[in-house]
Amino acid sequence: MSDDTITTSIAENIGTLSINRPKALNALNSATLEKLSSRFADLETNDDVHVIVITGAGDRAFVAGGDIADLASRGGLEHYLEFAELIHEVFRQIEVCKKPTISAVNGWALGGGVELILATDIRVAVEDAALGLPEITLGLFPGAGGSQRLLRQISPCQAKELMFTGDRISAREALRIGLVNKVVSREELMPEVMKTAQKIASHSPLVLQLLKRNLTHGQDMPLAAALAHEQAMIGLVLDTADAHEGCSAFLEKRPAEFRGK
Ligand code: CAA
Repeated sequence: MSDDTITTSIAENIGTLSINRPKALNALNSATLEKLSSRFADLETNDDVHVIVITGAGDRAFVAGGDIADLASRGGLEHYLEFAELIHEVFRQIEVCKKPTISAVNGWALGGGVELILATDIRVAVEDAALGLPEITLGLFPGAGGSQRLLRQISPCQAKELMFTGDRISAREALRIGLVNKVVSREELMPEVMKTAQKIASHSPLVLQLLKRNLTHGQDMPLAAALAHEQAMIGLVLDTADAHEGCSAFLEKRPAEFRGK
């Protein structure tokens, strides 16, 4: 339905979720966040989906942030805590999703828009996209997980400058500081994202899930514990039919046929 604030589609093992409020530059209000959560869960639990792509509807914005009207409509701290609780839950749901995720950044990614991409695994941006954390200019700070994720994902001094100034940066600058993986022209965006998604989806979905789990949990552990966790996970992987298929296919000089088992 075109008036749906979240639309999804599935093709070739890739689930695409689009935030669809183009008149509000895809800003995230509570209702949209709730729908985002349930539609994202549908894709995550669908066995036909191996990779999830998140993008914004229209050609202006990925997500221009939390919906400022929604935020301003809340009278007290209690209400804000409700919104904060929800957006935290949804972004964490995306971050720990068992399948690889890709942000297709098709325009403005501001505030909650950057906080959303920080919860995804891979990010491709159009060259005329602008990214930033303008919360400080609204008397806020990035409180949807963004302050902590940014600090851990890029250089701390770059992260602090972005948050303290509220400056917007170009997609190329975002690439330079390691906030996005790739910058492409508008025409190339979805082909490039799909090319990457297809490459990932061609691998064993089971092994991808174990790899993602290993990365998600390992990154917050001390190194010795993370290495022990990794060793346990690769032990599981070596016991899968897909690992045997991949190695046999190499030795037999044929393409592997992974079955997710
Ligand atoms: N929330 C609600 N509505 C928004 C919005 C947002 N974050 N961003 C844009 N819109 C709405 C505008 O109000 C406008 O609506 P109307 O047509 O009804 O007036 C419409 O989208 C188009 O926006 P503009 O007319 O402003 O478009 P522009 O091209 O002149 O400017 C822009 C584009 C620079 C992105 C500008 O819209 C802007 O600065 N938006 C706010 C960005 C921002 O501050 N984001 C952080 C929000 S706080 C947050 O994210 C914290 C959180 O909760 C996670």
